[in-house]
Amino acid sequence: MQALKGLILSGGKGTRLRPITHTSAKQLVPVANKPVLFYGIEAMAAAGIDQVGIIIAPETGAEIRTAAGDGSRFGVKLTYIVQDEPLGLAHAVLTAEPFLGDSSFVMYLGDNLLQGGIHELVTAFREHEPDALILLTPVADPENYGVAELRDGSVVRLVEKPPEPKTNLALVGVYMFTSGVHDAARAIEPSERGELEITDAIQRLVDNGLRVEAHVVKGWWKDTGRLEDMLAANRLVLDTIEASMQGELVESQVDGRVVVEAGARLERSTVRGPAIIGAGARLIDSYIGPYTAIGEGCLIQNAEVEHSILLAGSSVRDLAGRMESSLLGRNVKIGRDQHQPRAYRFLVGDNSEIGIL
Ligand code: DAU
Repeated sequence: MQALKGLILSGGKGTRLRPITHTSAKQLVPVANKPVLFYGIEAMAAAGIDQVGIIIAPETGAEIRTAAGDGSRFGVKLTYIVQDEPLGLAHAVLTAEPFLGDSSFVMYLGDNLLQGGIHELVTAFREHEPDALILLTPVADPENYGVAELRDGSVVRLVEKPPEPKTNLALVGVYMFTSGVHDAARAIEPSERGELEITDAIQRLVDNGLRVEAHVVKGWWKDTGRLEDMLAANRLVLDTIEASMQGELVESQVDGRVVVEAGARLERSTVRGPAIIGAGARLIDSYIGPYTAIGEGCLIQNAEVEHSILLAGSSVRDLAGRMESSLLGRNVKIGRDQHQPRAYRFLVGDNSEIGIL
């Protein structure tokens, strides 16, 4: 078989993660201090795929190019493909057709995280040579995903976000295709939400009598489209980290699996893992609880933070209560205000959410 190519979808709008995605691509929001997108690129590299196309949107593409570069640091060659409008996953495939040619390929949604990588699936695809291979996993809210119906292990029907799902088997955002998918993508009509759905293109393959193999994923899988999913992904990845200490501890202690990156400084503070403290961050008279990722250059002073993600450059100071289950964007400042009159004072962007004690 020809060499497999990779296609990562990193366009789209990211409406469910606003306001973070007003200024930044959702695929660059970090999980355990690493952009979600990088996990997908690394999975491709680990499976021996070295030609990877990345679909980008005109608005956020430059930022993604800057972050991932030419791919050499991952051991792959990245080719950026601009999709002018987010007209659906099957539209993204068609946009990538000149890059993909007649190669078979792995498609990975840039906001998805799949434990255990894709190596085994690539092997199954090579050995069984189906026309497409899809991944499924049982979920509690199938109406938010593509949903599959199987009969005797074979795929009989796939429906995108059905209001009344027939099963709880969601389509995971990693797919393998032969080049036949291009014709299927050309043959379908836009869905009710106005997108060319990859789910419908795969249904087309099934209708044409082609072989679509389904695997149920063994490890965990996360679509990081919403805040709760981001926090869950952060928990799952932090659960797998190994402790390492490259920063400086001054009258401070770390308990359990904690990563302290280079140049970080802890003064009279406690970090209880699993947690990661980014390069150059400063913790002063503070407590960081489990499942927290503190980004590069953050400052936490006289405060308690737990089960949260803080992007680079943010600061949290002098809080009377513990901050938890929060996601702060870049350079956010949260602190106690000393000025009179005593009042809450906010400067927050569109679609922000604030919960007060
Ligand atoms: O996460 C799994 C689900 O992903 C599947 O169960 C669904 O069947 C599938 O349609 C998809 O649903 P979502 O509604 O979650 O897809 P979303 O719009 O979030 O897009 C997924 C990724 O693809 C995301 O990184 C943005 C990117 N994208 C999306 C569109 C619509 C593009 O690059 N171009 C696009 O046109």
